[in-house]
Parts: sequence; structure tokens; C-alpha cells
Amino acid sequence: MIYVIEKNDEKYYFLNTNNTSIVLLKNKYDYLFILHWGSLISPTNLDYVLKELNRASYLADANGVKDFKLEQMPQIYPSYGYSDLREPAFSIRYQDGSRITDLRYDSYKIYKTKKKLKGLPTIISKESESIDLILIDKIKKIKITLTFSVFDAYDAITQSVKIENLSNETCYIEKVCSASIDLLFSDLDMFQLNGAWGRECHINKRHLVQGSQSISSARGASGHGQNPFIALATRGTNEEYGEIFALNFVYSGNFLGKVEVDMHKNTRVQLGINPFDFEWILDPSQSFQTPEVVMVYSNEGLGKMSRIFHKLYRNTLASRKYLNSTPPILLNSWEANYFDFTKESLLNLAEKSSEIGVELFVIDDGWFAKRNDTTSSIGDWVPNQVKLGGNLDTLINKIKKNKIKFGLWFEPEMVSPNSNLYRLHPEWVIQVKNRRIEESRDEYVLDLSNPAVCEYITEILSNFLSVYSIDYVKWDMNRNFTNLGSTYLSSERQKEQAHRYILGLYSILENLTKRFPNVIIEGCAGGGGRCDPGMLYYMQQIWISDDTDAIERLPIQYGTSLIYPSVSLGCHISAVPNHQTNRITNLDTRSTVAMWGNLGLELDLNNLRKDELEILKNKILFYKKIRSIVQLGDLYRLQGLDETNEYAWMYISEKQDEILVSYVQIMAQPNTVAKRLRIPYLDVNFNYLDVENNRVYKGDELYALGVSKGSCKYDGYSKQWLFRRI
Ligand code: DGJ
Repeated sequence: MIYVIEKNDEKYYFLNTNNTSIVLLKNKYDYLFILHWGSLISPTNLDYVLKELNRASYLADANGVKDFKLEQMPQIYPSYGYSDLREPAFSIRYQDGSRITDLRYDSYKIYKTKKKLKGLPTIISKESESIDLILIDKIKKIKITLTFSVFDAYDAITQSVKIENLSNETCYIEKVCSASIDLLFSDLDMFQLNGAWGRECHINKRHLVQGSQSISSARGASGHGQNPFIALATRGTNEEYGEIFALNFVYSGNFLGKVEVDMHKNTRVQLGINPFDFEWILDPSQSFQTPEVVMVYSNEGLGKMSRIFHKLYRNTLASRKYLNSTPPILLNSWEANYFDFTKESLLNLAEKSSEIGVELFVIDDGWFAKRNDTTSSIGDWVPNQVKLGGNLDTLINKIKKNKIKFGLWFEPEMVSPNSNLYRLHPEWVIQVKNRRIEESRDEYVLDLSNPAVCEYITEILSNFLSVYSIDYVKWDMNRNFTNLGSTYLSSERQKEQAHRYILGLYSILENLTKRFPNVIIEGCAGGGGRCDPGMLYYMQQIWISDDTDAIERLPIQYGTSLIYPSVSLGCHISAVPNHQTNRITNLDTRSTVAMWGNLGLELDLNNLRKDELEILKNKILFYKKIRSIVQLGDLYRLQGLDETNEYAWMYISEKQDEILVSYVQIMAQPNTVAKRLRIPYLDVNFNYLDVENNRVYKGDELYALGVSKGSCKYDGYSKQWLFRRI
């Protein structure tokens, strides 16, 4: 709900969800401030917030008013050039060489139906309300619209920014944040998700210190290194307690998230497109729309924050089929065969998959052109009939005779130097004339800032999806940008390339998902190299890591689950010794861990013993029983944040009547005795049946005493409990 209260020449804007508020103030000089972000407050007079700020020394006046110090005030979209010398939210260079913008409030508009941001993924819900706050620089005729949308029922607020050039001179956007928020305190920890290929989204925490601390990507994708997510939290925040101010960027390219603690212990947190190597030329009457940022406040720790993100993303981000229902269990051929398969081996694997209950069979890399290793053929999307033993159509039909769906791997954004596509269109590759184009995994990147390239990719994939009976696409992307440059863009617009690439990618996905709404797309960028809400808007699931080792997966899945819902996380049971770590983990534990998200398989079933196949079959059967709890229920992480030898997590079904609890101990320790796992968060007034042994517990018993973790006598030990409320 959005309210506006007017008092003399001031206006207060209350952006309220069911449990949270952001309060903005337009003061008498038409500056816009943020007075509060946090728990819900009723519309009231908050004019004391600014009045009671003691004036600091050595700061410039603003608007010519003595002792009116903009620099120490909590602003909502600070400009560069006047008396706030902290990080501005945006900066624009003008024709005369000046870089100063003086934004003042002009007007506002409240409306019910949130519009989709043009060309960008957008959080949309019928139950939202939005406000446009319009700010203008009268001298340069620049109009900036801050759009906030309030999702009451989800306790989330989004923000995006539009810059319009109302003058008759071209100007240059050098920086534009999607959100910039000032808090009048700084005793906070900053949570971030970082890592690398094979160990994505590990949680890291640091205490804020005076100065700047940031996370970013300049890789062309959101990247393995940092997820576009920042959470500022009061000290001691854990899963259950603590206040959190979290921001997540609905964008898949270069980003910067920056937190600045100023001289007076205020905090400015910003998130947006990375200004490094970015500039946007804005001609007269043109506008630039930023992607949006999701803002979530939780006063019950990380757990509540996650559940808010999960519900919001499940219901509003990708309103596409499957994100809010249960996706099929797949077997992916990659770690089973890599490039080395034949028609017979594929059919055999598909048949065996179906026998143990798998619902979707995916042929990964290696099915096209001359692709038998990484050195060629990306871009030549023609089925290799020799390898597939005939045409693809026949193979798909044979696979589907097993009553199983069919999926295929593509890497549409890349091209092999050794490919017909590259030989035909060398100019389509990201490059700078006369300089070597660096290869990565034997690939170049196609220049998606060029609409002709986007049309080509859309055409090729549309053709495949129309001609063949394909239910699922694994959309891979295996390298980052180097030697950035475009033969298509003019020399003045080269710094627009990285953002235009993402706009091009979104346009391809927009077209494909509109035309083929029933095809499931799983996003992958060498695992979790592009795991962000922007991708999730188009893709129902993300292959969050190429690391399939169950133990390694624990911190990855823990971190990823801070933001992204289980239904979107691809988690596979793989072979042992594991292909990334060489570790041997028992099948029970591999299954328990893969049941954190969307269960899948990635191993050659021919290498399993009969009894192992039987176990796997039963695991799949069990998952089918519980998958709606995992995929659509509420996640509670019970152990693993601080003490990382033991992980425990629990899902409570939407109706609260089914509960799945999972526990893993990584390393066994000598001379230990069985401990108990307490199970909080249940309604203590009910009884709960442990389905495996028919034992009934009272809710208060489970809360106080929990269940026995069991022997824990070997490395990689795990246990699962399924409770039914009775
Ligand atoms: C990288 C992906 O992350 C893997 O799962 C697999 O699809 C390979 N690419 C195929 O080249």
C-alpha cells in the first residue's frame, strides 16, 4: 500500500508492505530523502528524523542554505556535483563538458498495474502498487523517474530508474544505479555470495568499515565470482534472528554493488549496472531504463529473508509454467558419457533411466556437427547423423517410446573458431580490430549487441523447437568476455556493448519463451556463472554448479538458497569417485543432498550394481512423493551457517502438513555419541507422524528434544525424516 501525506511544503511517501516500510520525504527545497527502511510503521509525522541530525563540520551547504548539509542526509537518489561528496547514484556528462546534475522533485504518480520494463525481466504481480517519483534537473532538462513497486503480500519492494533527455543536446550516462539507499547507521555486517567455477555462491560475511566495500562483475555475465546480491545485517544475524536489508539485482550482466560508510557512520548501499567500461549515449528525446533491484527487509534473520525471496520469485518473477509447479526428474548425459556416445549408448541410457523412474532424458554437449571435444563446431547446430546413427527425429521418437521427455543441450551465444558459422561471419564475434581474439574453452563470444546475430540465434533455435519434439533445453554459456569490442556498434557506442549484449540476450529469450512456452529451459554458464533473477525470469531452473560432489554441493546449495527457490536449483546425483573431487560419498547422502532442490541424475547407470540401481529407483520414488514439499514449500536451514561439519535443512509444505528434514555430517569423529536434531518452526499444538517408523511426536517434543541424528559413524553420513501432521 502506498500513502502520501502532505504537510505544508513537504510530502511523505509511505511505501508499505504487510510487514515492512520505506518512507521517503520531499522537503521544502525539493530534495528527496529516505527516512526509514525496515519494519512497518503507520503513516505518521517523521519530520524529526532530519531535524534531529546534529550538523557536522567541514561540509558544504546545499541550495545556498546555511547549515543545510546534504552530505550527511539520507538521500534516495543522490546526484553528483553539489554538496554531497559521497558516491553519487548516477552521473551524466553533458555536451559542454560539465558533469553536474541537480535533481529536484517534480511530481509523483501512483498506479496499480505495474508495466513490464521494456526489454528487461520484471517482477510483475496483479497485487502490486507502484509509484513514479519524478525528479528534474531544470538546467540540463534531464528527467529521472524512480519507480518503486510494493508487493504487499510478499513483503518485497522493487526499484528501477529511467533517465530521459528532454533537452536538444546529446548527453552521456556514465553511471546509473538501479537503487541507492542511505541508512543512518553503519554497525552492520555485509553478507555476499562469492566463489569461482565449481564453488559458486559460498556465503561470506564482513563487518562494514569506513570507506567503500563492493562486489562486482565485469565479465559480461553476473559471473561465478559474485552473485548480484548484498545483504546488510545487524551484528550477530543468523538464520533466525537479526535485521537484514537485502538487495538482489534482476540482471545478468556486469554489475556493481557498493556499500560506502561515510565520515559520520552513515551507510550508502547501491546496486546497478557496473559503471566500469560503461557509457550510454542519450540523444534528445531518448530514454534509458535500468533493470530493477529487489529490496527485502527481514527482522527474523536470513531464514525469513530467503523465504520472502523464494515466494516472490516463485510467484512473480517467472510466471512461466513449472516455476510454481513441479518439474520433471532428469538424467543428463554429460558426466555419463561426455562427448563419447553412440545412438546405442544413448538409447540404452534413456531406457535404463525410464526404468528407474526418470522423467526427462537430456543429451548434453556433442550431438552436432563435428563436435567430439571442445575444439570445434559450436555455432553449427546441425545434428551429427553419423554419431546419432540417423536423424535426430528418429532418435527422439525412440527415446520417447520409453515414456520419457526429451531435452537437448545448446550453447547459443558462443562460436568455435573452427566452425562454419565463424568462417561465414567472423565479424559477428566480440573483437577489436587488429588485436588477437582470446579463446576460452576454444570459443569466441558472439556479439549479441548486433541485432542480426540475435535474429540468427532466435531463428536457429525456433527452427529446432518447431521441427523436433524437444521438451527441455539446457542453455549453456561457457566463457566470459575478453577483448571487448563490436564491429557493429559505432566507435562512440563501444562502451554500450556489454549492456546491449544482455539486452540482445533477453530479446532472444523473450521471443523464444513466448513462442515455445512449454519448453523448459535450464540456464547454465559453466554451472552457476549466470545464476541471477534476470535469467530466472526466462528459465525455470539453473544448473547452479558443475561441481556434482555431494559434500562440495552443501555450501553451494546453502548459499544459493539464500535467494533462489529450490524449484529453480538443478541438483544431481552423480557417480563416485566424483569427477571434480575424486571423493567417494555413499549413494544415500548423494541423494539426500540432491533432494535439496530439483533432483536430477548425471551418471552412467550401466556402471551401477543391481542393488545400487534399486536404491536409486527407491530414492526417485521417494522424491516423487516429497517433491512438492521441497519445490513449493518453505525452506528452513537448521545447521550449516557457522558450524560447517553438519548441515541440516527442512521444508514445510504449503499447507504445513508435511515436513521433510534432511541432515548431513561431513566428517566422522571418534568417540562421539548420538546427538539430537531439534526441529523448530512447527506448530507445537499438533502431533507429527514419522512416516518411516510410524512413531508419533508432539510438536513441542520435536521443538524441545528433536530426533536422534543416529550413529554418524562414517564420513558423509546423512539421514532424512518425513513427518506428517496429524
Ligand atoms: C559446461 C556445463 O556446465 C556442463 O554441465 C556441460 O554441459 C558442459 N558445459 C558441456 O560442454
